[in-house]
Amino acid sequence: MSERFYITTPIYYVNDMPHIGHIYTTVMADIFARYHRLRGAEVRFLTGTDEHGQKIEKAARDQGVQPIELADRVVARYHGLWQALAISHDDFIRTTEARHQRGVAEIIRRITAAGDIFKGEYEGWYLAADEAFIPDSQVKDGRDLESGRPVERLSEPSYFFRLSAYQLRLLDWYRANPDCIRPRSRFNEVVSFVEGGLRDLSISRTSLRWGVPFPGDEAHVVYVWLDALTNYISALGFGSPDAAAYETFWPASMHLVGKDILRFHCVYWPAFLMSAGLPLPQQVFGHGWWLRDDVKMSKSIGNVVRPDALIERFGADAMRFFLAREMTFGQDASFSDEAFLERFNADLANALGNTASRTLSMAARYLEGRVPEPSGEGPVPAAATAAVEAYRQHMDAAEPNRALEAAWQLLKVIDGHIQERRPWARAKEGAEGLRDVEATLAVALEGLRVTSLLIEPFMPGIAARLRRQLGLGDGPRRIAEAAVWGRLQVGSTIGAVEPLFPRVDIKAYLEETSMDAPKPETAAAAQPEPLTIERFFETKLVVGTVRQAEPVPKSKKLVRLLVDLGEPELRQLVAGIGERYEAAALVGRQIVVVANLKPAKLMGVESRGMLLAANVDGAPFLLSPDAEVPPGTRVS
Ligand code: MSP
Repeated sequence: MSERFYITTPIYYVNDMPHIGHIYTTVMADIFARYHRLRGAEVRFLTGTDEHGQKIEKAARDQGVQPIELADRVVARYHGLWQALAISHDDFIRTTEARHQRGVAEIIRRITAAGDIFKGEYEGWYLAADEAFIPDSQVKDGRDLESGRPVERLSEPSYFFRLSAYQLRLLDWYRANPDCIRPRSRFNEVVSFVEGGLRDLSISRTSLRWGVPFPGDEAHVVYVWLDALTNYISALGFGSPDAAAYETFWPASMHLVGKDILRFHCVYWPAFLMSAGLPLPQQVFGHGWWLRDDVKMSKSIGNVVRPDALIERFGADAMRFFLAREMTFGQDASFSDEAFLERFNADLANALGNTASRTLSMAARYLEGRVPEPSGEGPVPAAATAAVEAYRQHMDAAEPNRALEAAWQLLKVIDGHIQERRPWARAKEGAEGLRDVEATLAVALEGLRVTSLLIEPFMPGIAARLRRQLGLGDGPRRIAEAAVWGRLQVGSTIGAVEPLFPRVDIKAYLEETSMDAPKPETAAAAQPEPLTIERFFETKLVVGTVRQAEPVPKSKKLVRLLVDLGEPELRQLVAGIGERYEAAALVGRQIVVVANLKPAKLMGVESRGMLLAANVDGAPFLLSPDAEVPPGTRVS
């Protein structure tokens, strides 16, 4: 019987369109899923969407649609994105599906039967405007940090889960399974949190309608995290008549999550499972955050990177490679276009692309496109053995960035070997020279075959193209073949040689995409279709109140503004409005701001957004709401 590997991503909230941070979790899960398939395991890979709860109810209300309409819209976007990124999930679960709701009802039935649910009163901060409780972390000085509105202390009846009873059992589980939470630093954090004691957990709400009805008391809906976590088993059929997949694949081999949601997965989830008498996951891996200017990318801050343009221009494989290579798995990393482009040129266009196209075109030229007899000469065979071994160890230890380093080490040795043996010169030296060329290219081609297997989980599209160019078929493959030298078919024909990654002119690309110099042709090319409502909603327009304003020194037009957008900190904007408006007179005025625009520098001053103005022959006329509204109010 083959080994089984069940890997999951978190299910994504549908109150926002996906950004690089969301994509990262799914891309990494896909890389592991593909690697385990290549090892011959029976793999199940699950992703999906988290569609209930207050955030979604509120976002739908703000946009004037029903929650399910909002969910459908965002789900369509996720499907498109996963396809564009070559994500190979076996299933996509939505928490609004009946199969999921059956799973939730079943886990609650079991927890109730275990005597772990009791009725009590939930007390918290209530925001009347939203008719909802908000987390303590979102309240400061009696106000909601997001909207600035006052909150009040209220309570409502609620069902509770006896989490406190699981403290010792959880600690036993952690200690007996030191790999159940990774990386190690996160394991330690969770253990000390649980050692500090656990409070019983409220698992139902009456102040909210958009959720799974609480079994046996439909005045309540199930708390969104109990609802959401259950997706990992409801998707396998738990609670449904056909639970064969559950029997086969549960417990999960790896729940891959961002570090912000570790506690839910390492404390609540195992406690629910223990109470329900179900097996516990083998591992929860908490990866780090993508930061922008050292701040976590998140939609409420408005500093997110949307991946579409980069994927469209450079391809899914380049994006997947960058995400996996740039971030040390488990730690934080900063995203920038420059870093993306530099890696693209150095690692993809140069190290991989050039080594492959030089080898293949020399094989076409000097060997008439035929794969030569294998050769074991020079340092490449040993480098390949070492690379495969290191790669497998790193993949098995969940260190994908290090696995890539091992593969690139092999490329370096192949390239060095070609440089040293100079086939282009030896080809001019008669029959003996040609024999040498043949031996050199034989090892280089074989080294590329090994490389094509190692890169496959990361860049499935490029790996397939490389294999085709090497004259290999698209048949089933195993990572074990990478460890065997001399598997190319002698005499087979090398496919048409085409560059894998054409080099990018970084400066020209950045100029072309910079907001300072938009070229009309580029804007038109980027948006050939009429604007869809989904894309329109990607632009976050909000009302802000100007708190400070001053002219930018040495500039006639530019004014630096500090604007209250209802966020914890004021936003700095730089706007070219100084010829029509006196800076000081702008203080207190309300304006409309594009809040999720990529930050840019104008005369050396950073602008984190753009204000809207009607433009009459270059003279700006500011737009404002016709009566004062709270800062941060969305324009839609
Ligand atoms: N719905 C919950 C998860 C429920 S799982 C039972 C949720 N959704 S989310 O859409 O907010 O986030 C999903 C994942 O995206 C999380 O793993 C989160 O850590 C990840 N990321 C969101 N922003 C991120 C970055 N800036 N960087 C890396 N990943 C981050 O939480």
